Amino acid sequence: MLKKGETYTGAVEKNVWGGKGFLKNDEQVVLIKGAIEGQVVEYRVEKTKKQYAEAVVEKVITPSSFELPEREKKNTIPGCEYQDIRYEKQLEIKHGQLQEIFRNFPEISLPAVLPSPQIFGYRNKMEFSCGFETQECFLEEGNKKWNDSGLVLGFHPPQDWAKVIRIDDVFIASRALNFLRQEIEVILQSIVENYSGEKDVRPWNARIHTGLWRGLIMRESAYSQSIIVNFLVSEESDASLWEELVEEVLSLHIPENKKISGIIRTVHTGKSDAIVNPQVSVLWGSELLEEKLGESVFEISPFSFFQTNTLGAELLYSTVRKKIGETSGKNVLDLFCGTGSIGIFCASNAKKIVGIEMIQEAVAVARKNAEKNNVTNAEFYAEKVEKVLPEILQKDSFDTIIVDPPRSGVHPKALQYLAQIPVKKLVYVSCNPSTLERDVRALEMTQKWRLVEVQGVDMFPHTSHLEIVSVIERIDCS
Ligand SMILES: C[S@@+](CC[C@H](N)C(=O)[O-])C[C@H]1O[C@@H](n2cnc3c(N)ncnc32)[C@H](O)[C@@H]1O
Repeated sequence: MLKKGETYTGAVEKNVWGGKGFLKNDEQVVLIKGAIEGQVVEYRVEKTKKQYAEAVVEKVITPSSFELPEREKKNTIPGCEYQDIRYEKQLEIKHGQLQEIFRNFPEISLPAVLPSPQIFGYRNKMEFSCGFETQECFLEEGNKKWNDSGLVLGFHPPQDWAKVIRIDDVFIASRALNFLRQEIEVILQSIVENYSGEKDVRPWNARIHTGLWRGLIMRESAYSQSIIVNFLVSEESDASLWEELVEEVLSLHIPENKKISGIIRTVHTGKSDAIVNPQVSVLWGSELLEEKLGESVFEISPFSFFQTNTLGAELLYSTVRKKIGETSGKNVLDLFCGTGSIGIFCASNAKKIVGIEMIQEAVAVARKNAEKNNVTNAEFYAEKVEKVLPEILQKDSFDTIIVDPPRSGVHPKALQYLAQIPVKKLVYVSCNPSTLERDVRALEMTQKWRLVEVQGVDMFPHTSHLEIVSVIERIDCS
């Protein structure tokens, strides 16, 4: 039996869904964070469970043949578990994971994963946290005090949610966004150092919830070549400080001929990083961005959902369009529709599109997006799918269904309603193959449905994530 805290050595057999390395030590399964298929590693066991042990890499003894040569390796970015693996191998790993998860469906077509059209600088949205460069906690008369200094805009390292580390060249972001992160960090450092007013304008200390600067969110549009800069703060603070900041940001010469089209401030008063009820004010320009996917134009508001890989989103939506086929003269049901982008992209010439989405603001944007694209045949409902689906099915009949649920998959009740719909084809888009497999099994149990195809689309190079477009057909429907 493996023991917690002990170190062992072994060869990593594969990378499983979620990114961890897998090996067996005397028949005991070990999942190792940071390990790559083909490496021989020394690993330390952190947790032992009934079915498996969890471990971390202590030392790589033999590198993997799938690893990039040292000179090609980039700065370590949290969340990019596969960044040291050659891209073709990353795709093979993701394909192998799908084959394993869908092993009980031997008859389906499971083609190679479609690569992302762009593998570096592909993200259209970057979120940086703000914190202190150095933080020291000490006791003074029995009370905890903090000796903090410097300001950094960066990422929380995986093992410390309250710390922020600077990474100069984030290879999944564009040159323009990397440049802005760096320059804005310098501007904020200078504002903090030279401030003489009464307010606390230091970075946010996530442990004791003090300070002003909490983060920086930037979104860029390839279509308009413009960028929205969004400062996340704990309060509005001094007006003079914002005037100076806006002036300095606007004076920057951004590479790649990109321009800033809006500077906004979001007050986030909550203690945790999760932004609930953001209070957004526009300091300069506009808070809205427009992006084009194929022939469709979409409006992006500061906190609305939009796929973070623009060219990847075009590939994903084109794949969905191919799977659903011709929609002219047909009624299309777009479940979990977000801001309506899949329906509008794939079925703008349909007789009718009905979208369901529980977030009211997203539905408002979906309606605007339909209008923007002259799609006059779309109706959107701001409701939970499991609640409103029976009512919708009583009003209309559908020829095609698109389902794009969150990671948790489709609610069992909604799945029961879906199973009854007499439609030939269901195209299920998923970012979680495990819940997709669970939902497909539930549909197949009714003996009315059959999984036909599972196509991976890599929207997130260098990470362990993947989008999947699957086709499920109704057996008793001609
Ligand atoms: C993966 S996103 C899909 C976004 C959209 N299809 C797109 O590509 O832009 C899942 C969406 O489902 C919504 N959602 C989650 N649970 C829901 C439910 N029970 N009923 C309706 N919508 C739900 C979320 O708010 C989110 O917008």
